[in-house]
Amino acid sequence: MRDNIAIDGPAGAGKSTVARQLAKRLGYLYIDTGAMYRALTWKALKEGTKVTDEAALVDLARNTSLEFKEVAPGEVSVYCDGEDVTRLIRSPEVSRHVSTVAAWPRVREEMVKLQRDLAARRKVVMDGRDIGTHVLPEANHKFFLTASLEERARRRWQELIAQGNKFSLEEIKREIEERDRRDSQRIVAPLRPAPDAVIIDTSNLTPEEVTEHILKTIRKNC
Ligand code: DC
Repeated sequence: MRDNIAIDGPAGAGKSTVARQLAKRLGYLYIDTGAMYRALTWKALKEGTKVTDEAALVDLARNTSLEFKEVAPGEVSVYCDGEDVTRLIRSPEVSRHVSTVAAWPRVREEMVKLQRDLAARRKVVMDGRDIGTHVLPEANHKFFLTASLEERARRRWQELIAQGNKFSLEEIKREIEERDRRDSQRIVAPLRPAPDAVIIDTSNLTPEEVTEHILKTIRKNC
């Protein structure tokens, strides 16, 4: 699993765009681990499972099939029990509850098992919060993307506006701030860079510039 690429960082740092571009350029599979926590949260909300009930969520996770299907190089759809949930899991309601679901240690254990299985089968670019520190600690390419809170909120806000949602920039900023706090302060596998990760501040960089920088770093280290 050493050749895999781990990309971690807070919401809105540009991880998914860059991870997708890298997967496409290198012919690796892109695995968005946030989408796995989101899909479980989506199913819990749909079925009325409380996001505060760890045992029920673990049970739900064990009885849920989560799959990634590559629809084009670097483009992946997420399936939950055979249903394409790629768009559904981006709803503001799922965003509000997902960090509560992702904070439960036994829920994380279930997700990490799946993530390691996926990485054992194919070379992957995996993005998340704990990939370099916990899921694939032996990966030899680790990157931690970050950006100012203002810039991350602006990116998320533009995405939501483009999808026809109406939110103020302030609301998005507050939501991201709250999610950062929960993701960084949780006890199990909190958001933080691995000691051997290359840290990249993307505030003033385009996704293409970040991808090029990462590719150069990988080539230099090979
Ligand atoms: O990257 P995202 O915003 O789609 O992630 C959704 C949530 O899942 C986020 O609040 C943090 C959590 N998450 C996590 O705890 N560990 C991961 N490896 C990926 C995401």
